[in-house]
Amino acid sequence: MMEETQPKISSGLEGIYIQESKICKVDGINGRLYYRGYSIETLNDNSDYEEVCYLLLYGRLPKKDEFEKFKSDLRNERTVSTEVMYLARSLSKKMHPTDVLKTAVSALASEDEELADNSPEANARKAVRLISKIATLAAAIERARNGKEPVAPDPSLSHTDNFMYMLTGSKPSSGQSKLINTMFILHAEHSSNASTFTTLVAGSTLADIYSSVTAGMAALKGPLHGGADEAALKMMMNIGDPGNTEQYIEDALAGKQKIMGFGHRVYKTYDPRARILRSYLEELRNDKDPETRRLIEIAIRAEKLMIDKLGNSKGIWPNVDFFSGPLYVWAGIPPELFTSIFAASRMVGWCAHLLEYWTNNRIFRPLEFYTGELDLKYVDIDKR
Ligand code: ACO
Repeated sequence: MMEETQPKISSGLEGIYIQESKICKVDGINGRLYYRGYSIETLNDNSDYEEVCYLLLYGRLPKKDEFEKFKSDLRNERTVSTEVMYLARSLSKKMHPTDVLKTAVSALASEDEELADNSPEANARKAVRLISKIATLAAAIERARNGKEPVAPDPSLSHTDNFMYMLTGSKPSSGQSKLINTMFILHAEHSSNASTFTTLVAGSTLADIYSSVTAGMAALKGPLHGGADEAALKMMMNIGDPGNTEQYIEDALAGKQKIMGFGHRVYKTYDPRARILRSYLEELRNDKDPETRRLIEIAIRAEKLMIDKLGNSKGIWPNVDFFSGPLYVWAGIPPELFTSIFAASRMVGWCAHLLEYWTNNRIFRPLEFYTGELDLKYVDIDKR
């Protein structure tokens, strides 16, 4: 038998390009991020999440009438069927909200009459439904966890303001509104990260859009990816007093633990999304809420120590998940909801990538180099 030669294995697919794409540029050397050519700083300063959704899905900024129609389409899709809402609310008592949301998004397929239509036009309409309905579900799930009825969407509010409204029952303050819009924009898209790649792998089999994004949501959940924001905040809560920060981090690093919210496969410098969130931290450093101030002090001390120890030496810098926690706490959002908000924001990125990939689909099928034994003799169960 011919011997196979040992191939070069790229653990974690590091350094492997899977396709050409026009959606997102992650410049990990210079710490820059672009959606369809616009820097996230430009979009955060000038745009809002609904416009960013249009940009990501359709490849350019909308004209006025196009934007009005898109917003109205999004707003018209906010309700979910009684069955899916019942499912989500019932599961909320027992499961983590991220898991409930994943199950409920998967179940949304049951109410889409265009499910079997895989045309680009139908898939674009399904993307709008998914972006809209996932926010409704995320808010309702959190309320159900606390024994509260869902709040009906308010069509006069933007996507992100309406999310806060459906979550809390009140319109957000201007500060909350600005923050949640930023959060949604910064989490909307990030090239072929683990969850987007997983979405594409499922989509490449020509599974429908609901199945594909559900696969992506499963990948998002882990603490090495979208679950890192909840884990980072929980670490800050464990640290307790800001004065404990340095010792806590030193001990964790000495014990070979990873500090959640730091490090990135692509960024070997400060994550530009983290830099934007860091500026919010400065604004809120003297906030009247002592819990916000305490968490911010811990985050800032941890950031300094980590950069001193691992920044230039190892390329480990804060990522988007590190500073979200104190900011969400300030906005009244509980840690268990962080990853759901990430998923709700990222839905557009997953859909944009699926729509792009399906224009030139090819099933993903990488290889493994087998190192086990061959042609073993079968031994009867009584003789093993
Ligand atoms: N804290 C301490 N050390 C770290 C951290 C960290 N957060 N991240 C990486 N390292 C160290 C590793 O221990 C390893 O050290 P070694 O070479 O001495 O063994 C080295 O840096 C390389 O780390 P890998 O895990 O191999 O890097 P990889 O590119 O595979 O992983 C990842 C990237 C998963 C983001 C990693 O940095 C990590 O686990 N970070 C913490 C989790 C996190 O914040 N995830 C969110 C990422 S952003 C997002 O998904 C939205």
